[in-house]
Amino acid sequence: GEEIREAFLNFYAERGHKRMASASLIPEDPTVLLTIAGMLPFKPVFLGQQERPAPRATSSQKCIRTNDIENVGRTARHHTFFEMLGNWSFGDYFKEEAIDWAWSLLTEVYGLDPDRFYATWFEGDASQGLEPDHGARDLWLRHLPPDHVLPGNAKDNFWEMGETGPCGPCSELHYDRIGGRNAAALVNQDDPDVLEIWNLVFMQFDKPEKDAEMIPLPRPSIDTGMGLERVSAILQGRHDNYDVDLLRKLIEASAHASNDDPDGDNNVSHRVIADHLRSAAFLVADGVQPSNEGRGYVLRRIMRRGMRHAHKIGNKDPLMHRLVPTLVESMGEHFTELRRAEASITEILRLEETRFKETLDRGLRLLGEETDRLGEGEALPGAVAFRLYDTFGFPLDLTADILRGQG
Ligand code: ALA
Repeated sequence: GEEIREAFLNFYAERGHKRMASASLIPEDPTVLLTIAGMLPFKPVFLGQQERPAPRATSSQKCIRTNDIENVGRTARHHTFFEMLGNWSFGDYFKEEAIDWAWSLLTEVYGLDPDRFYATWFEGDASQGLEPDHGARDLWLRHLPPDHVLPGNAKDNFWEMGETGPCGPCSELHYDRIGGRNAAALVNQDDPDVLEIWNLVFMQFDKPEKDAEMIPLPRPSIDTGMGLERVSAILQGRHDNYDVDLLRKLIEASAHASNDDPDGDNNVSHRVIADHLRSAAFLVADGVQPSNEGRGYVLRRIMRRGMRHAHKIGNKDPLMHRLVPTLVESMGEHFTELRRAEASITEILRLEETRFKETLDRGLRLLGEETDRLGEGEALPGAVAFRLYDTFGFPLDLTADILRGQG
């Protein structure tokens, strides 16, 4: 993982990009709670409100997304914390270089088989007055045969950071893990073997208000994002992002500290612990403290969900803080903030877990009594879920998670 990240940053640095450290998970932008994409720190630059740090930049940005938290651990590709590798042009180069370099990195530096790639381009959307992106299509046709270059609608091929902000048509690169076939029909179908690995956004517009008309940006720009965990899984020949070294080391540390088998019955729990440890540690390193509102509550929910899994697999004593050295060892060289904050990450995790154990024991007892009373297939009353949260500090998603575990 470290080498794959380094090869990316180096490739773009050699092509005149300024290597930037990842920005904080706490964005300056007030419209979002946490950094969810590599472009977020550069939003004012795209909008022409801030001077560009350089004409071109590259980074591996720490990102947190919690919208799919209940799937974390259960699937091969859901995370709360991930790294987004990106390269940016702030009014400098545009589509041609963005496409040619992406292609060259994937096929020459990473050595992936060119025949397994599919590129998508924006087919336009008359209802929004958006033209088809034939420029991108033609550029891909220089690298790929016509049946690997596919049109896509606004949902897949027009990227927006949210209801407002910079946006534009995009091209996605999809990779077929199987190969030796035409997999065009499987692109964007959630097929486990045909994966989107990179999104190249041709930033051209700003949406100043929700549902407002888009206005052209001062300078067309490039914003790309590739998930490090996902590309690493492909390069390391793994089907599951959690088998990539960056996560696997944490899963093994969690199993080892629990006297357990990393691939046994508790595998989902070890995966949850590995993912949530990363989110929690990086949030604390960026100055977030567990609390009952805002980012602090996001942190607390993530920590408590991890801690509940540690408890569930039989850990009587706090576990997560004991895994911090493994995390720092595997990611602390690139993310020096982890190393700097190691002591406070450890202490905050230990304290939160010690406190949470008492509430967990009481809450689990109450939840057990309530579920015993339920008939087959009957739902837990909302009032009980509320009381668990309000009196016992059980986040609602934790209650849902426990109930899901019981079918
Ligand atoms: N900003 C683009 C994304 O998040 C690259 O997919």
